[in-house]
Amino acid sequence: MPHADLLCADGSRTTIEVSPAFSILIAAQRAGAALRHDCGGKALCGTCRVRVISGTLSPVLERERVRLDAVEAGPGVRLACQARPGSNLSLEAVLPLSGPVHP
Ligand code: FES
Repeated sequence: MPHADLLCADGSRTTIEVSPAFSILIAAQRAGAALRHDCGGKALCGTCRVRVISGTLSPVLERERVRLDAVEAGPGVRLACQARPGSNLSLEAVLPLSGPVHP
């Protein structure tokens, strides 16, 4: 099973099991890892975004692209609720658990 080293939204670091069958957000929730997800994983808020330090993820589809553009996400940033793992990963939550959507 691939894994992801994750810098969580609460500042903690953890390693979670991930699967191509599930989004990074679902894997994080199952592991009890803190990742903000204001819209519940519908690609509507952008608060679940993560910076990809290493590893590969599923391709960016239209609904994710629209939301990433709306929150002015930089290169190498993905929505945890839309992206699925393609390898072992190192990821960092972009936002803390509360506060503005644009840091
Ligand atoms: S949880 Fe809202 S965009 Fe991912």
